[in-house]
Amino acid sequence: MDAAAIAELTAALGADRVSIAAEDLAAYAYDGSWMDSRPDLVVHPQTTEQIAAVLRIAEARRIPIVPRGAGTGLAGGSLPAAGSICLNLARMNRILEISAADTLAVVQPGVVTNDLQRAVERIGLFYPPDPASVYQSTMGGNVATNAGGPRCLKYGVTGDYVLGLEVVLAGGHVLRLGGRTIKDVAGYDLKRLFIGSEGTLGVVSQIIVRLIPKPAAQLTALAAFPRLADACQAVGAILQADVIPLVTELMDQGTMRAVEEFKRLGLPTEMEALLLVAVDGDAELVKREIAIVGEVLWRSGAAEVRQASSVAESEALWEARRSVSPAIARLARNKLGEDVTVPRSKVAEMVARLHEIGRANDLRVVVYGHIGDGNLHPTLLCDRRDPEVMQRVEKAAGELLMAAVELGGTLTGEHGIGIFKLDHVADALDPNALAWMAGVKALFDPHGIMNPGKKLPA
Ligand code: LAC
Ligand code: ZN
Repeated sequence: MDAAAIAELTAALGADRVSIAAEDLAAYAYDGSWMDSRPDLVVHPQTTEQIAAVLRIAEARRIPIVPRGAGTGLAGGSLPAAGSICLNLARMNRILEISAADTLAVVQPGVVTNDLQRAVERIGLFYPPDPASVYQSTMGGNVATNAGGPRCLKYGVTGDYVLGLEVVLAGGHVLRLGGRTIKDVAGYDLKRLFIGSEGTLGVVSQIIVRLIPKPAAQLTALAAFPRLADACQAVGAILQADVIPLVTELMDQGTMRAVEEFKRLGLPTEMEALLLVAVDGDAELVKREIAIVGEVLWRSGAAEVRQASSVAESEALWEARRSVSPAIARLARNKLGEDVTVPRSKVAEMVARLHEIGRANDLRVVVYGHIGDGNLHPTLLCDRRDPEVMQRVEKAAGELLMAAVELGGTLTGEHGIGIFKLDHVADALDPNALAWMAGVKALFDPHGIMNPGKKLPA
């Protein structure tokens, strides 16, 4: 980056908020994916005005900007572009307000999601979205990816909780969108455009989220199924029994075996699938609901149903789900974790197709996911050092994305397009819609400096 640009950024932000030190550039070269690429410079703004100053300078000089929270993204969304400024928002980590009267919170983008959850739970409120990265990922990143997690079937995704946003556009223009009310139909709902935009339209500098009362109780059951298809069908049967579960997490046999090897929890590894179901709400209600869930699970073909009768037991059941990612990571040198989503009625067929795609490409594929949302994480085990294997991984990844689209689903439910799925966007979206999206991008970011090379094909 040229010296004049560095000097201008330093003058605007102060020397301690601008870094070109090699160790800093290296530290910000990664995200949760397996790629890396160094930015030219890292800035650490602490106010909206400082973000605006950076975007003004970057726009005038046509320098790419890559916003970043905790860098936990799995699709490469926050990987620095060549010659870019990494806009690190992690220092903007203040919870500005929690209002019990209006049941909302106002936060800066660098607030870690679980920090917000714990803060609001202390006063009996609840912020439901809980991506698996909840202990690391930040609210800005959650908005930028419209993050999901296990609780979405009942409570929805991040975007369902965003009441208002402050965003900064290329050039430094600050927009205030939405506000503090549940209902608001004044003007166009532009904030929706920024939710899930992966930093390609602007930078989220402040967020107002809706909160709800914290449910008093939660109960969990774990069922083992000899036939995976039965586990998939069980979710629909639970809904038909008038219970909306808090979570419905599926693990196939490969996932279960990985977890068992890792944690020795005594899981029934001869079974084809495990289904973790939780319900929450008032104490009497959850008892009734978990009994119904248990009944439906047996009726749907479970060979074993374990019901937690205490918080400690429930924690033990959750241990299996939380171990999935590290457990799978031990199976091979590298893994490609996917994020396809299909209509709920197609989950069983999709899982069968995923296993078939693995076999046909001679790859080990394990599948787990939030099946109430139709959201599956097929994970391809591989070794990136072997180009022949990686060719098969790429082919299989393309096939599984197209299988999701064929079944009426989508390329990604919660991780985003980033750079990993860019090649498939054109095959999955309506070409007219894609052209209008390109128009939206050009409107907000005419010179294409905002997180270039992500989300939409060039
Ligand atoms: C999960 C992440 C991978 O659900 O989305 O564990
Ligand atoms: Zn997930």
